[in-house]
Amino acid sequence: MTAKIRSVAVLGGGTMGSGIAGLCAERDCKVLLLDVSREAAEKALERIVSGRPPALDTPEKSANITLGTLSEDLEKIADCDWICEAVIEDLQTKRDLMARLEPLRRDGSVVSTNTSGIPLRAITEGLPARLRQDIVVTHFFNPVKVMRLLEIVGGEDTRPEVIQRLADFCGNELGKGVVYAKDTVNFIGNRIGCYWMLSGLHHAEKALQEGLHMETIDALMSGPVGLPPTGLFGLIDLIGLDIMDLVGRNLAINLPEGDIGRHFTSLPAAEQTMLEGGQLGRKSGGGFYRMQKLNDGSRNKQTFDLATAEWRDAIAVELTDAHNSLDMMLGDDAQSSFAWRTMGGTLWYAANLVPDISNDIVNIDRAMRWGFAWAKGPFEMLDAIGPLRYMEKLDASGLPRAHMLTVLENAGASHFYRNDGTEYLGADGSYHQTPAEA
Ligand SMILES: NC(=O)c1ccc[n+]([C@@H]2O[C@H](COP(=O)([O-])OP(=O)(O)OC[C@H]3O[C@@H](n4cnc5c(N)ncnc54)[C@H](O)[C@@H]3O)[C@@H](O)[C@H]2O)c1
Repeated sequence: MTAKIRSVAVLGGGTMGSGIAGLCAERDCKVLLLDVSREAAEKALERIVSGRPPALDTPEKSANITLGTLSEDLEKIADCDWICEAVIEDLQTKRDLMARLEPLRRDGSVVSTNTSGIPLRAITEGLPARLRQDIVVTHFFNPVKVMRLLEIVGGEDTRPEVIQRLADFCGNELGKGVVYAKDTVNFIGNRIGCYWMLSGLHHAEKALQEGLHMETIDALMSGPVGLPPTGLFGLIDLIGLDIMDLVGRNLAINLPEGDIGRHFTSLPAAEQTMLEGGQLGRKSGGGFYRMQKLNDGSRNKQTFDLATAEWRDAIAVELTDAHNSLDMMLGDDAQSSFAWRTMGGTLWYAANLVPDISNDIVNIDRAMRWGFAWAKGPFEMLDAIGPLRYMEKLDASGLPRAHMLTVLENAGASHFYRNDGTEYLGADGSYHQTPAEA
């Protein structure tokens, strides 16, 4: 059961399937790539060879890939160690395929489903016990070759050695940063990252009324808090308001009762108007920002000012020293208040999700660093601010403790990590050795 994975059947060669197939082939794993038709499979291979960045570093590696169709070649999965399903995000399609593949695969093979949001238990419900023991969710991020994070999610019946075997392969051979998540909506990275984005848009409404510029909001939500330079609006321009709207709708249905994310599942009015007008982000030629080409060939950045609903030239922002670190969220001017509500609120949200979405803080911190390129994860940020100072501000604002803050307080601890990060505070209130990064 612990044998190394050497062959993979990738079912579905779309964006994710072709990315996974290309990366496996590049690492000299034999790949059987099946799609709905021969043409679809050939298109997938074309995407692998010519993609940007190409999923294969040398054309010869494409010889590791054999193409076929889901209707004629599915029995060939009997030769594969890992059956990696990457078809469309549709529960019935995934369930039908699982039922078809289960009798064909050999004992000891592992199965994974790539889903962004369908619970594993819904995919496996009523299917044979052998499948339920051998299956996980593999939540890769797009583009697969570039993004380090891989969330692996076991189900209630998944055997630990199945999770370990896939984690070893994806960590050691594919170079992924493996994080272990639970079978809950949006897993870890997107649960916290989407909360930050959606709540941020709502808190920005108030901040703009208080006179902050959108550029200031993006400046506050980048370098000072250790997030990428796109900040808030810039990141949503990359993702697209249509995707954010879909994410919010999914969260509205699937977030547990009482989850504070439920307050932020719809877009604020100004963004809703942008969405309806097709002003989605970079893919539609502009969202919150756009680049104008001037007659002299130079480019000019413009901002769609939410306060006036008009385009204007972007302004350059210089933050003061007081707003240049995580500590800024402890202040009380308009910049600090926005940072406190958005980033401080996200830290609170994360601290309330252990152990519900992850057994420990380490997997949460890694998910945010590897999936969203945050310099520090939420608990590392809390440690940088000082959890006791953060709690003082919570008290002063009349806000309740989040679960892991109570754990820290009851343990008489002052930080979530100690001994240079080699130990972390568990949900049981004791310190444990921090596992090596995969
Ligand atoms: N694209 C992302 O950023 C991303 C990230 C994480 C997870 N995912 C998840 O990965 C899975 C695949 O997503 P994608 O972006 O690669 O999708 P895609 O649309 O690019 O590819 C879908 C694949 O499914 C195949 N397909 C279509 N109809 C089918 C059917 N009836 N039966 C079997 N196969 C069928 C297509 O031919 C194609 O190969 C989805 O569940 C998605 O939610 C996507």
